[in-house]
Amino acid sequence: MRVPLLDLSQQYAALAGPIRAEIEEVLAGQNFILGRKVEEFEGAIGRYCGSPHAIGVSSGTDALLAVFMTMGLGPGDAVVTSDYSFFATGSCVARVGATPVFIDIDPVTCNISTAALARYLAESCRREDGVLHTPKGGRVRAIVPVHLFGLCCDMDAINEIAQRFHLDVIEDAAQALGAEYPSAGGAAKGGTMGTAGTFSFYPSKNLGAAGDAGMIICREEAFAARLRHCRQHGMEPRYYHHFIGGNFRLDEIQAAILGVKLPHLDEWSAARRGVADNYRSEFERLSVTGKITLPAEPFRESGLTNHHIFHQYVIRAERRDALREHLTRKEIGTAIYYPLALHEQECFRYLGYSAGDFPEAERAARETLALPMYPELSREAQRYVAESIAEFF
Ligand SMILES: Cc1ncc(COP(=O)(O)O)c(C=O)c1O
Repeated sequence: MRVPLLDLSQQYAALAGPIRAEIEEVLAGQNFILGRKVEEFEGAIGRYCGSPHAIGVSSGTDALLAVFMTMGLGPGDAVVTSDYSFFATGSCVARVGATPVFIDIDPVTCNISTAALARYLAESCRREDGVLHTPKGGRVRAIVPVHLFGLCCDMDAINEIAQRFHLDVIEDAAQALGAEYPSAGGAAKGGTMGTAGTFSFYPSKNLGAAGDAGMIICREEAFAARLRHCRQHGMEPRYYHHFIGGNFRLDEIQAAILGVKLPHLDEWSAARRGVADNYRSEFERLSVTGKITLPAEPFRESGLTNHHIFHQYVIRAERRDALREHLTRKEIGTAIYYPLALHEQECFRYLGYSAGDFPEAERAARETLALPMYPELSREAQRYVAESIAEFF
């Protein structure tokens, strides 16, 4: 039986009519960039997240880049982030000339370890004239937590640390649109808990475009206004440039398609949780739960519906590569998110990290394996995946 890692065709088939009608409307109007569809979709995301400002941009990468540029991050600045994430989280810091500082992860969730974060800031950095400096002298400006695989980081702890050290928090919520966090102050959605939150609508995301697209949300009006300028080369009015931004614009066709899909996001995320529950019961039935580690759901008892939105369903296994080869032979799609921790990437060698600096992130890079996960994944397919894993052991 062939089971792909992801199959978007059923989702499209169910919405093909309204999606095509929206595309037709944009084509008929011949207004392709930053028009009414973008405005409507920004409004819809703002309402969905409970955020006063939403700024549509060209991708999740450009969302991060635009936020860092708008904050005026640059040479001499340092940004602290998770060592285990998609490349863009670290690369956007480097692209503005600042220094990414990596922190090890919590082995249970694969999100940034708040203990390691607090330890680094308290023990490795020093405060001079009210400014926090890294051991190499960089001025620490922000923490970028990443809500990996659709599970929010421990944001109360992160915000407490950020306040203690006077740092901004930029949430990389690319994989976590709609994920909820049980904050002591009440339930909060991923992306709404810091200075700004960034999202990706890459086609494989829980809410995926038909191409690249992204979004930034934030609370402050002045910051939102600067972000809007930043996505158009720092320009206002036309051809008057106050600062250097980029072409980070969202186009109308993507916004129109995303606007059709957004009302279905919560039901899709619920279906993903159902898939995760089925995987768990299959693994328990087949007694493989001692051989692989299933994804943690630390907020399951919180009462929040979207306590996890399972952007990916990632297990861990010591013999991960052999297991993956076995599943490939069984025609089961899998992926490794991510085969290297960020400090192991060749392009970050100049940062001076060594093997063993972040043991949990390094171990995750050796052990994680994403299994097929999408709302329409059948029980039969899941049983086949689970039985194939049991067969391997
Ligand atoms: C954690 C994380 N950050 C940033 C991005 C970048 O988003 P995009 O691919 O839309 O540029 C992604 C996308 O895969 C991501 O998973």
